[in-house]
Amino acid sequence: MHSFNKSIGHIPVLISDFRKLFPKISGIWVDGTFGFGGYSKYLLEAGAEKLIVIDVDPDVKQHINNLQAKWPSKIDFHISNFIKIKNILKNLEIKHIDGVLLDIGVSSMQLDKSLRGFSFRNDGPLDMRMSRNGPTASDFINHAEENLIAEVIYKYGEESKSKIIAKRIVESRKKSKIDTTYKLSNIIEGISGIKNGAKKHPATKSFQAIRIAINNELNNLVFGLYCAYDVLKVGGYFAIITFHSLEDRVVKRFFNQVSKTNDQLSELKKFGGVSTPFFQKINKKPIIASEKEIKINPRSRSAKLRVVKKLSNNALLLDLKKLGLPQVSDSLRAFQCG
Ligand SMILES: C[S@@+](CC[C@H](N)C(=O)[O-])C[C@H]1O[C@@H](n2cnc3c(N)ncnc32)[C@H](O)[C@@H]1O
Repeated sequence: MHSFNKSIGHIPVLISDFRKLFPKISGIWVDGTFGFGGYSKYLLEAGAEKLIVIDVDPDVKQHINNLQAKWPSKIDFHISNFIKIKNILKNLEIKHIDGVLLDIGVSSMQLDKSLRGFSFRNDGPLDMRMSRNGPTASDFINHAEENLIAEVIYKYGEESKSKIIAKRIVESRKKSKIDTTYKLSNIIEGISGIKNGAKKHPATKSFQAIRIAINNELNNLVFGLYCAYDVLKVGGYFAIITFHSLEDRVVKRFFNQVSKTNDQLSELKKFGGVSTPFFQKINKKPIIASEKEIKINPRSRSAKLRVVKKLSNNALLLDLKKLGLPQVSDSLRAFQCG
């Protein structure tokens, strides 16, 4: 996530903390979530010999030009999902890399552009697709069954009013299509109203949930964690920034499991004796934004940075059920597949 400050330009979230951890960068790195390119720029300035840049959103192309002009031979740019990282590296004949950075979630470029339809703050088509491909949020809201809408809003948004919100959505779409962000947020506001002094808009959780579903964000995250392990060399670093509690819970539990030895993990004891942990945590507690950063960029308030170092080349074993990934009915997959 970014803020834009006229005097200093784009400021990637937690970049000063990342810089302290990594004052120098060496070898080959992947920036799997390019966005505005703030982290990529830092990785190159700090010494990366090669940078593989990935983002699923074709609109980020406009931000790569300056970097490519400055470091033409160092950058390899891909519009793709970061879960394809292994394939991308294989095509480049690269086996292992020195670092992976994932700054996941939505960028302010996506949130602030009304035509992308991510935000209840700007009126626009109800779209929300990072990749600009596949079914839109409008397809979901206008065609999914009430139960599925309620489930998504409850499990991906942790919204306690999910059932009534889904009911009102279905009642409303019978009268006319819900195809704009304002139409959807008005329906939700109509239930809860906007309370004076409330910190969050009543549509915040529902919009987050629908966005996560449309972009398959949590499943991508889990794949991304596995892929990062597979592509790193022993001694390589993995840094990941999350923006909400569902994401951070998955990352935290993943790192908790993979930073223990087999005999410390009762669920893995059956696979045999003590082994080297897969990763070592570099920061025990997540790094969060300072008050100063939050003042400049209020969206950094919920950001958490976790960093680990790869210790082993053994095949990754872990109990997926313990990651706290919300289980949503299979009918959601039917939607995501279009
Ligand atoms: C918070 S922004 C990243 C900002 C970036 N670190 C910077 O310094 O400008 C998140 C970006 O990740 C991209 N993204 C989200 N999920 C992705 C995925 N599964 N694969 C590739 N890119 C993804 C989004 O399109 C968005 O541009």
